[in-house]
Amino acid sequence: MAAPPQIAVVGAGIFVKTQYIPRLAEISHLLCLKYIWSRTQESARGAVELAKQHFPGVECKWGDQGLNDIIQDASILGAAVVLAGQAQVDISLKLLKGGKHVIQEKPAAASTTEIETALSSYKSICSNPGQPIWAVAENYRFEPAFVESKKLIADIGDMMNVQIIIEGSMNSSNPYFSSSWRRNFEGGFILDMGVHFIAGLRMMVGCEVTSVSAITSHIDTTLPPPDIISSNFKLENGCSGVFVMVVSSSSPKVIWRVVGMKGTVQVERGKQEGRHGYLVSLYSADGQCKSTFYPFCGVHEELKAFIHDILRATLKEGSGYEAEPRSSYVEGARDVAVLEAMLESGNKGGALVHVKKL
Ligand SMILES: *[C@@H]1O[C@H](CO)[C@@H](O)[C@H](O)[C@H]1NC(C)=O
Repeated sequence: MAAPPQIAVVGAGIFVKTQYIPRLAEISHLLCLKYIWSRTQESARGAVELAKQHFPGVECKWGDQGLNDIIQDASILGAAVVLAGQAQVDISLKLLKGGKHVIQEKPAAASTTEIETALSSYKSICSNPGQPIWAVAENYRFEPAFVESKKLIADIGDMMNVQIIIEGSMNSSNPYFSSSWRRNFEGGFILDMGVHFIAGLRMMVGCEVTSVSAITSHIDTTLPPPDIISSNFKLENGCSGVFVMVVSSSSPKVIWRVVGMKGTVQVERGKQEGRHGYLVSLYSADGQCKSTFYPFCGVHEELKAFIHDILRATLKEGSGYEAEPRSSYVEGARDVAVLEAMLESGNKGGALVHVKKL
């Protein structure tokens, strides 16, 4: 068997400490975490201390020199980029140009303008062997709840309507509440968190959102604007739907419903036996309802898929290996495009906006 691939984590913030390190530890038999990088030495050290329990050889890298060291290290096959939304694309492209496979945290970028520039830079990278993989970590497309609900949609006949209601709980108790980059991000939490909910929608219905009309508002002034959006949308298959997102509500609720001629599929966030996850329900025309609870495991699954992909890509050097489509950069980019259209419509008082095709 080939030696486990060596990877780097670029970023050392809350999400690295609370998600990446524990999730990578779960698959520590599949990979070797060699470096953790941060802009400052202090921050990189904090994450390295945590990671050492699972990856005793992990080293600290920081600043421009540290990033160059990672790029120059031929033993590093891939990197996870987990940085402020404004910085991720530049750093991802640097690593990709250095021939590293990259899994970058969502959002894919801050805007479709940035995405188009990024995609053209990516296309121009013709490293030998083959083009490195650029994945976006959004995890929802890997949640078993969405994988299963996508299959159930086949049983509900013609699609009639889709409803997504998101009432989040982004208040001062949330560790991301005071995250400064999210406060300086166009679209605020609606864009940063919203890509997950759009990913869930696109996964379930299996087609694209073509146009939207939205009203945005800013009511909770402890949050960056806008903090509320109500959008109508139209799908490629002609079906209509609504997407409502309240960033912070005192009674959180997260639900997707796809209504068909012969039944309805519903995915609702919840908790069972102390585990957070989703309850997937199929309501059929005879009045029956079948429900299954799926605990969260999307981050684990998507990291496993990335490691699998970089191994396959390395073994099949240059022979056109196709990576897991659910984490491709363009999928993450399409989620941004839908929210950008909604936010633009909100700015134009609800005018109809077509979603940019990517
Ligand atoms: C924040 O939201 C959570 C979840 O709804 C709730 O338990 C908590 O009390 C809220 N905190 C504040 C400060 O409102």
